[in-house]
Amino acid sequence: MRVFNILVIGGYGRIGSCICERLVLDETVYHGDKHNIAVMIAGRNDEKAALLAGQLRAKKPEAEIKVVKLDINSPELTRQIAATSANLVIHTAGPFQKQDYRVAKASINAGAHYIDVADASDYVLNIKQLDFASAHDLSIISGAGTSPALFAAVIDQLVCEFKILESIDYGYTPGYSSGRGTARVKSILAGVGRPFTVWRDGDWKKAYGWQQQRVHNYRKAIKFRRLRKRWLANLDVPDMQLFPERYAGVNAVRFGTGIEIGFFHRILWYMSFLSRMRLIWNWRFMGGLINTISCWFNWSGSKVSGLFVEISGEDFQNRPKRLHWALAAGSGHGPYIAAIPAVILARKLAHHEYVPVGAQICTDLVRLDEIMREIKELDIKVEKQSN
Ligand SMILES: NC(=O)c1ccc[n+]([C@@H]2O[C@H](COP(=O)([O-])OP(=O)(O)OC[C@H]3O[C@@H](n4cnc5c(N)ncnc54)[C@H](OP(=O)(O)O)[C@@H]3O)[C@@H](O)[C@H]2O)c1
Repeated sequence: MRVFNILVIGGYGRIGSCICERLVLDETVYHGDKHNIAVMIAGRNDEKAALLAGQLRAKKPEAEIKVVKLDINSPELTRQIAATSANLVIHTAGPFQKQDYRVAKASINAGAHYIDVADASDYVLNIKQLDFASAHDLSIISGAGTSPALFAAVIDQLVCEFKILESIDYGYTPGYSSGRGTARVKSILAGVGRPFTVWRDGDWKKAYGWQQQRVHNYRKAIKFRRLRKRWLANLDVPDMQLFPERYAGVNAVRFGTGIEIGFFHRILWYMSFLSRMRLIWNWRFMGGLINTISCWFNWSGSKVSGLFVEISGEDFQNRPKRLHWALAAGSGHGPYIAAIPAVILARKLAHHEYVPVGAQICTDLVRLDEIMREIKELDIKVEKQSN
């Protein structure tokens, strides 16, 4: 049997380790006692990669797992990827803000498909410039995380109940002690106080990262331990540009994210003013330090993450309609949510199921029912309410 080799760059990071675990433990990729995928855990620190490999082998001794030491900034990247015989590269080594397409290009040159979990607008929106990959029958997919992949899948399903769309309000608030990687922290810091455009009142308006503080009450849609009211603030994600066009006719699209502990949430808010005043233009350089300090306070937060989507408009009887959809992830399972679209696509590629070739944004490639199947054995609950 031919083995499908999957190289996960950032494979022992927060999102990468969830991807590796899901792929290794996935029963659908086993045939008898043989595994038809091999997972290669890659990053700059091969000791960390080996540690995760050992933990996964303990759970699934027959799994084929390798460790690869690799730096995405190396001029030898293409050769290194080619040397692994990877059929697919999954790139989670963010932050993606200001990153170029070196990993995607190296994957194409090494003859491998490519999927990333990028949440940076420019990175995701410009991926189409790599469309030459279609000439090599390769799929290049950007944004296979929560934003935009998962939110698009949820909204696609909900908008079917509307004749007229007025607003789409949605967001994500991780549990403070669910674990966050330095790359994720740097990615958020890159947006603090930075201007971007949002679709409000049927027009493009200027907004700033981590401003427009508001509170979302999850209890409107879902009852789950320690998931009640959570702070939200603006953050630039690719969806801000994609969704107004995708859900034509909508008047407003609003995304928010926040920190569960109000005190820390407000610190980022104060930092956003310093960036707006250009006193400190980019906080990203402090990502490692901020993440280390923030971890000291993990005891003060929960392991419960929440996602929500609220859509308002008119139903097919011309009556006002509002839908509340919410997902709650307990036991620190929040980071799996961002990992799942990439896992679904990796499995499709490994099983030779249809995935379009060429460079594309991950908005039409995973459906909500596929995501729901994937999360069913996790501590995750989903509810939908209408009023
Ligand atoms: N689209 C979405 O909705 C979504 C959701 C969540 C997260 N994300 C993004 O996913 C990314 C990863 O987040 P995370 O929480 O998993 O972060 P993380 O835990 O810090 O993981 C990053 C991984 O990348 C590796 N890495 C960093 N620089 C590297 C380099 N030069 N070469 C090779 N490997 C490198 C790191 O290991 P070493 O430093 O040891 O090399 C680490 O394993 C972030 O950019 C985040 O913004 C997107």
